[in-house]
Amino acid sequence: MSRTVIAIDGPAGSGKSTVAKAVAKALSWHYLDTGSMYRAVTVAAQRRNLNLNDEEVMGDFAESVTIELGNSVLVNGEDVTEELRTEQTNRDVSIVATMARVRHAMVHQQRLFATTAATGIVVEGRDITTVVFPDARVKIYLTASLEERSRRRGGDEGEDSVARRDHADMSREVSPLTQASDAHTIDTTDRSIADVVEEILTCLANSSN
Ligand code: DC
Repeated sequence: MSRTVIAIDGPAGSGKSTVAKAVAKALSWHYLDTGSMYRAVTVAAQRRNLNLNDEEVMGDFAESVTIELGNSVLVNGEDVTEELRTEQTNRDVSIVATMARVRHAMVHQQRLFATTAATGIVVEGRDITTVVFPDARVKIYLTASLEERSRRRGGDEGEDSVARRDHADMSREVSPLTQASDAHTIDTTDRSIADVVEEILTCLANSSN
């Protein structure tokens, strides 16, 4: 199953979404943005006034919902797209994403997506190459300088805030963002999108499975 997965990890602003979408388009494969899944659970919980710091409450909730990703993001059919990228959600999601049961529930849905997809899939996140699909056909770690990543966030998230999120993602106990030893690392700081996409497609063409 994982023969048809391209797994892409990296910190915020490393270019993951843009690049993953472009690779999926070039191959006519599905694209799976796992960050949106953590955001979707967070927004649906905010709307229900759940205690986002309570692991048990959030674990029960994450296990009870089905997430659908498309033009809109749905949680049990409820459209949560509008609040997906608010400042509040940026803050809350880094709490929710530390919780083991929430992560297990999301990983389960991510693997299900791969087994039911009619084509290959390009999956991006923080633990895709290490935990979700460690045997993916192609494993990529994208990175870029802090300055560049903050700039890409449109200036609405300063370097301090991006650095804080890096720290939270890389130092959490469960599934921290790390560079898999067998992942192909690409520093996107001074590279065009097309150039990075080309490099990933070359990795796919050279992959043995
Ligand atoms: O990629 P993003 O900014 O949309 O991710 C939102 C949050 O979810 C971020 O705090 C990292 C976390 N995340 C994660 O822990 N594991 C993933 N596979 C994807 C995202």
